[in-house]
Amino acid sequence: MRTTTIRLRLCGALATVLVAAGIASGPAAQADERPPTLAELAQEHGRYYGSATDNPELTDGPYKALLGSEFDQITPGNGMKWYATEPQQGVFDFAKGDEIVNLARANHQKVRGHTLVWHSQLPGWLTGREWTAPELRAVLKKHIQTEVRHYRGKVFAWDVVNEAFNEDGTYRETVFYKTLGPGYIADSLRWARQADPRVRLYLNDYNIEAVGPKSDAYHRLAKKLKARGVPLDGIGMQAHLALQYGYPTSLEDNLRRFSRLGLDTALTEVDVRMLLPADDAKLATQAQWYRDLTEACLAVRRCVGVTLWDYTDKYSWIPAFFPGEGAALPWDEELRPKPAYFAIREALGDE
Ligand code: XIL
Repeated sequence: MRTTTIRLRLCGALATVLVAAGIASGPAAQADERPPTLAELAQEHGRYYGSATDNPELTDGPYKALLGSEFDQITPGNGMKWYATEPQQGVFDFAKGDEIVNLARANHQKVRGHTLVWHSQLPGWLTGREWTAPELRAVLKKHIQTEVRHYRGKVFAWDVVNEAFNEDGTYRETVFYKTLGPGYIADSLRWARQADPRVRLYLNDYNIEAVGPKSDAYHRLAKKLKARGVPLDGIGMQAHLALQYGYPTSLEDNLRRFSRLGLDTALTEVDVRMLLPADDAKLATQAQWYRDLTEACLAVRRCVGVTLWDYTDKYSWIPAFFPGEGAALPWDEELRPKPAYFAIREALGDE
């Protein structure tokens, strides 16, 4: 990948020389000077730059074109969640996830599987009744293994357990925790590993970008799991940031301490929201945050890549979930690049 990009860019330089010497004609040479995409820039650092997407958006042609050209990694925003993939007990539906996997394949993009075990967006059949521990264990194992097997060889990583901890570092009291105890996390990882020996297995959460009680809980748990030989490969930091709460300045140190445990890290759901209306000052600060978080990932060897939680304000989840907030992504609602986009390019070393 590295050589391809470098060759492409040398090609541009060569074309310029040839045009200056009157050997090549202008328009053909200019075609070679297409600026590198975020994906190409990231690849020069051995990283990916990705975006989430969601099935309904894929009817939007210009949106889909940019999604296919600018990024080399995709995460389905909803299509692989439990409510979508097992809408009735034991009845699996992978149509939505498959649509995104097929699109990614056509665009030579890798896919992050999101997510197998989460307290949110569960199907009604699961939340609507009581379960004994043996019953829920069987349900969980079957869900994980059926989905992981279906996407074996098609996703490079799984967010196996999503959002397992509270802000103070105690376990979130989900149906899984309450019924099965904290061991459900190790079990989920082991079941996923059995179903796909090669896929990278992650725990994923928000508000763990900085060093603090919640990221400490992950650090402790990861250390324990590694010591016990539980298959854990990485920690995903969602990075749903908000200007009004300040930048997580310990991000780089935090990424590094997980690397030292022998784990990959990734920024998995990045957005930087603000109180609306947006203005130039807020957009400039936002750009700086995108620059900083991209640089933090590049600075830590085992940070494997960055994924935006969709790339345009047109399809951001923020306005619906945080009323009065928005403008969180590097492209605006008209798919025009914002200052944040140019800041990311610079962070990735675009000349
Ligand atoms: C969000 C999706 O973007 C929305 O479309 C959906 O309605 C709710 O979930 N953390 C996660 C993601 O791990 O799955 C969430 O995605 C955002 C927060």
